[in-house]
Order: sequence, then structure tokens, then C-alpha cells
Amino acid sequence: MLTSILGCLGGAATVFDISSASFSSPIPGLSAWNQHIHDLGDKIFSQAFVAAPAPYFGGLGPIFNNTSCTNCHHNDGIGIPTVGTSSSSLLLRISISGNDPFGGPNPAPGFGGQLQNVALFGVQPEAQVNISYTENYFTYPDGSIASLRTPAYALTSPYIPLPAGYMISPRMAPAVIGMGLLENVPEATILAFQSANAAAGGAVKGHANYVYNPYTHQTELGRFGLKANTSNLQVQVATAFQQDMGITSYVQPLKSVHGQSQWSIIPDTTGTDIPDSILNAVTFYVRTLAVPARRNVTDAQVIQGEKLFTQLNCTSCHQPTMYTGVNETLPVLSHQRIHPYTDLLVHDLGTALADNRPDYQANGNEWRTTPLWGIGLLEKTNGTPYYLHDGRARTLEEAILWHDGEAHNAKIAFTQRSKTDRDAIVAFLQSL
Ligand code: HEC
Ligand code: HEC
Repeated sequence: MLTSILGCLGGAATVFDISSASFSSPIPGLSAWNQHIHDLGDKIFSQAFVAAPAPYFGGLGPIFNNTSCTNCHHNDGIGIPTVGTSSSSLLLRISISGNDPFGGPNPAPGFGGQLQNVALFGVQPEAQVNISYTENYFTYPDGSIASLRTPAYALTSPYIPLPAGYMISPRMAPAVIGMGLLENVPEATILAFQSANAAAGGAVKGHANYVYNPYTHQTELGRFGLKANTSNLQVQVATAFQQDMGITSYVQPLKSVHGQSQWSIIPDTTGTDIPDSILNAVTFYVRTLAVPARRNVTDAQVIQGEKLFTQLNCTSCHQPTMYTGVNETLPVLSHQRIHPYTDLLVHDLGTALADNRPDYQANGNEWRTTPLWGIGLLEKTNGTPYYLHDGRARTLEEAILWHDGEAHNAKIAFTQRSKTDRDAIVAFLQSL
């Protein structure tokens, strides 16, 4: 109870910072050596990479989505839902029906599993992406009105014709705080959330995603990515380098253009773009980003909002409390009582939010419960924050109103509450 009163969302890995840099602190108490690796990873995270050959930070592309991690994960927070500028952080996954040999999405021939919309000089981007929105009005039982915008994506100028029946999944960059804590939540804890959902026999039926790890060659429980489509941070970071920036490493040694017609001119057999130590440092950096503490925890409206959050059953997916397991190499991550407000399971949130593109065992309606820790600081880290997997929601209220499917009852309960109660729930979210 004390930790929740003090608002230490990340246990001992909590920091007290409410500035625009509040997502960028290392977990307190790192050894001098670990702090050194964290700082090195920090520099690489914000480093714009360039085309090879270059003395430093070469290897970009030849096709990519952006040039640095931080250009998408602004201030270690979220991105913006645009495509085509240096701060654009929305990418599109692409595939055709069927599976790859490991049960994952079936890459679109000539395009792979992700659409790279930027290219180095002399190479064509895979395609351009245009996003447009349609506004619709939602009327509450009490007569208040909210406006919700639905995105549509159009692909133009593909470098070769797009395959028939291709599927896309828009994804905006999520925040990268508390990653090491989430990596350390025992599988048994996540599976217990799944069993509790099943035993309750209600509408909420979250399940774990099981995904292929290209480094261990094993199928493992997924916890990162917006459909829990990646099992650990090393693979997450290596795949970001490879798919988002075109940079190869010991974990993902093939260029993202591998096998495409455009690439045959420049063979990719000359070693990896970044040394092992760099991949490891960036992985260590995100693993050791702290979680900022809550604010205004004793405010009456916030306390009321927290009560309603439980009463409306938001907590059936946004699980408030769990413990991390043992981490021998980083003891500070061990046995922490944390409050991430996620179960790391995927849930069907209805057809309006669906991307209709399966990702391992997450179907086209399912998304991982977004961790809500830090969500109230996004206005500091990100200026104008956008919510949900594709950034369609412009306010927390809009994000809640998009919930459907397994969250239908919780959403309806929210809409039936008075404006005062709804404001209290938003005030609670803003305190996280
Ligand atoms: C083009 C924008 C873009 C770039 C560049 C980018 N990311 Fe991401 N990042 C994303 C998106 C989108 C996701 C969600 C991916 C998914 O659902 O599979 C993500 C997910 C992540 C996650 C998992 C977060 C979670 O909650 O599961 C981590 C960690 C991460 N990125 C780190 C990095 C690092 C490190 C780099 C640089 C090497 C990087 N990213 C570069 C857009 C980007
Ligand atoms: C059935 C599980 C489930 C329930 C119940 C649920 N959520 Fe969610 N929530 C999710 C999932 C999954 C997402 C991610 C959806 C997406 O990105 O498209 C999400 C996203 C959110 C977001 C946006 C987070 C962000 O950073 O983009 C907010 C805010 C939120 N939920 C609040 C609530 C509130 C408040 C309630 C109760 C009224 C609630 N949720 C009930 C599963 C659930």
C-alpha cells in the first residue's frame, strides 16, 4: 500500500522527475560500469545514422523508416502518427495471408514484413504512405458529445506492384520506460492473468502471444511490440535497427532489403553494420530506463478516479500490481513490486480498432494491453500526445471511447457514468 501511496510505479526503479526528460533517467543505483554502458546506449539511441561507408554510425538503409531511435521514440516517449518526416514515428507492417515457417506473418513478396518508406539516394523507397482521417461523433447517454477520428492508409508509388490481398498494420512508436521491469515479470505471472480471465468466464479473454526468437531459434512468450510480437529486448532492439533503420547486427544480420531486386547490386556479405557491443549497449539502455513516480496521489478526484478504474473493471486488463522475478545480472530489477497497468496479454478490442492482420497468435482484432505507467507525463515528454496503436486518439477520453470487443462492458460503464466520474478517471490516468 505504501508504494502505491508514494506512487512508486517502478518499485526501486522509480525516479522523481516531472520534466520533459522524465522518461530518460537510468534506474537509480546502477554501478559505475553499468551507468557507463547505459550512457553509451543513450548516445547511440539519439544518434542519427548515415549511409556507409562512414567512419562512425554508418550502415543506414538502403531503405528505412527513420534515421535514429529517438526520431521515433521522442524523449524515450511515444512518437507522432505521421509518415514521411524526420520526426515521423508511424510504420506499417505488411504481409500476405498464411504464415512464415515460424508461425509469424507471411512476408509480402518484394516488401518483406515492414514497409520502408524512405531510401538512400539511388534506391527507391518501397512505397509512400498517406494517412487521412474521417471524423465521427459519439454521443454519451447524458448528451455530451466527443469526436473520434478513424484513420485510413493509402499506399502510393510502390517500387514494384503490391501483391494482391496484402494486409497492413499501422504502429506508432510506444514509450520505452520500464522495459527491464516488464522483461522480468515471470511468465507464470502473465499466464496466471490468462487463467484468471478464462476462469472468470466473462468477456475478458486475454491470452499470451507466442513468438519466434530469431537468435535463440525458440518459440517464446511475447511481451514487447503492440501485439506482444517480440519476446525480449535484445531481439526488439536488433529488429528495430534492422527493419526501422536498415542496420544489421549479430542478432539480425541480414539487410531489410535482403532478397529484393534492388539489393542485388550491393551484396550484404561484408559483416554487420554495428558491433555486438553497440547492440548490447542500446539494449541495456532501454532495459535500464526508470519509470517516473505518480503525481497528485492524494488528490480527492484522483482517488475517486482510481476507485472507478477498478469498479469499471479496467483493471481486468490494465493490471495494476505485480512483482518482478530474479535478475542475477541486474539485481535492482529483482523482486520489485511494480504498477505497469498491463497484463502483457493480447485482447480483442473490437473491429473498429482492428488491423485485420494476424501476428503470430494475436489475431487481427487483438492488441497487447498498453502499459499505462507514465501516461500522464506524455504531455511533458511529447508535447501533444497521441494514444492507441496508431495514434488516432487525441485525448485519453477518446482512447477510452475506442475500447470495444472484450472491453465493451468497461467502455459502456464509462459512458454511463456522470461527467464528474469520467473526469475523475481521466484525472487518475493523468496521475500515472
Ligand atoms: C520508424 C520508427 C521507429 C524507430 C526508428 C525505432 N522504433 Fe522502436 N518502436 C517503433 C514501433 C512502431 C514499435 C512497436 C513495434 C511493434 O508493434 O512490433 C516500437 C517498439 C519498440 C520497443 C518495445 C516497446 C514496447 O512497449 O513493447 C522498444 C524497446 C524499442 N522500440 C526500441 C527502439 C530502439 C532501441 C530503436 C533504435 C535502434 C528503435 N526502437 C527505433 C518505432 C520505431
Ligand atoms: C479487455 C481489456 C481492456 C479493458 C477492460 C480496458 N482496456 Fe484499455 N487498453 C486495452 C488495450 C488492448 C489497449 C491498446 C489498444 C490499441 O492500442 O489499439 C488499451 C489502451 C488503453 C489506453 C491508451 C493507452 C495509450 O497509451 O495509447 C487507455 C488510456 C486505456 N486503455 C484506458 C482504459 C480504461 C480507463 C479502461 C476502463 C474504462 C480500460 N482501458 C479498459 C485493453 C483494455
